[in-house]
Amino acid sequence: MSVELKRSGAPLGHEIRGVDIATGVSDADFAQIENALNEYGVVFIRDQHLSPEQHIAFSRRFGELESYPVGKFILPGHNEILVVSNIMEDGKPIGLVDAGRNWHSDMTFVEKPPRCSLLYSLEVPHQGGRAIGDTQFVSTSAAWDGLPDDMKQRLAQLKALNSFRTYSGKKSDGREDDGKAMPDVVHPLVRTHPFSGRKCLYLSESVTVKIGDLDESGTASLIAQLIGHITRPEYSYRHNWRVGDLVIWDNCSSMHKAVFDYALPLRRRMHRTTVSGTRPY
Ligand code: SIN
Repeated sequence: MSVELKRSGAPLGHEIRGVDIATGVSDADFAQIENALNEYGVVFIRDQHLSPEQHIAFSRRFGELESYPVGKFILPGHNEILVVSNIMEDGKPIGLVDAGRNWHSDMTFVEKPPRCSLLYSLEVPHQGGRAIGDTQFVSTSAAWDGLPDDMKQRLAQLKALNSFRTYSGKKSDGREDDGKAMPDVVHPLVRTHPFSGRKCLYLSESVTVKIGDLDESGTASLIAQLIGHITRPEYSYRHNWRVGDLVIWDNCSSMHKAVFDYALPLRRRMHRTTVSGTRPY
């Protein structure tokens, strides 16, 4: 089998073709997938048929797996899989309903945030004959490259405080208890990609609560300015899901946001694995 890259036209969001994960991916093919992820930040593979075990085993080739702090949405029997879904069973959500409502990189609120995440689609909502419930992605490395030099110099000096407690306090799904014990963490606002060496803007809406010595409103306005820049169309890719897609994103060189344009009875169900990372620098 030989791996082919079909480019999206954006800096990220390229399709990898010629891979059937369930029947096995050679080391040489895996190296090409991993290199593409390191270089572009978001890649995807369509038409996969993955059991939870196969999803976990493929994800482990990128590194150790983590459990999401919201233990109640873990797939029963599979600690490594977070269920992302709007489906209710017996009056209770089977998954994290509002994952990705804001622009974010996964788990910026931990000391060693995840290297990458692998989201596999099992049910995709449709309306008027087209899939809805897309995920938007942006390249934080391309966005960094596009900043003027004086802005780069200013931002490169800054540290940002990231708080799961603040974030969970803003949620409506009872996440507060899970977050209470998690201390706030400080990360550089501009981090270096551990594999490519590229500089990347590093923040998450609702999680990054203080930047440098700015007060609350100064922080909020810098975040709004940065998000406005990062989400410019030239740094963006929007994934329109099909059942069987596996989208892999790098949590240093990309950010993402889910589009909530669907509601029950339209069902959306995804499984996410999260690969451990290193302390940002
Ligand atoms: C996530 O942010 O992990 C999920 C994104 C999505 O559901 O599209």
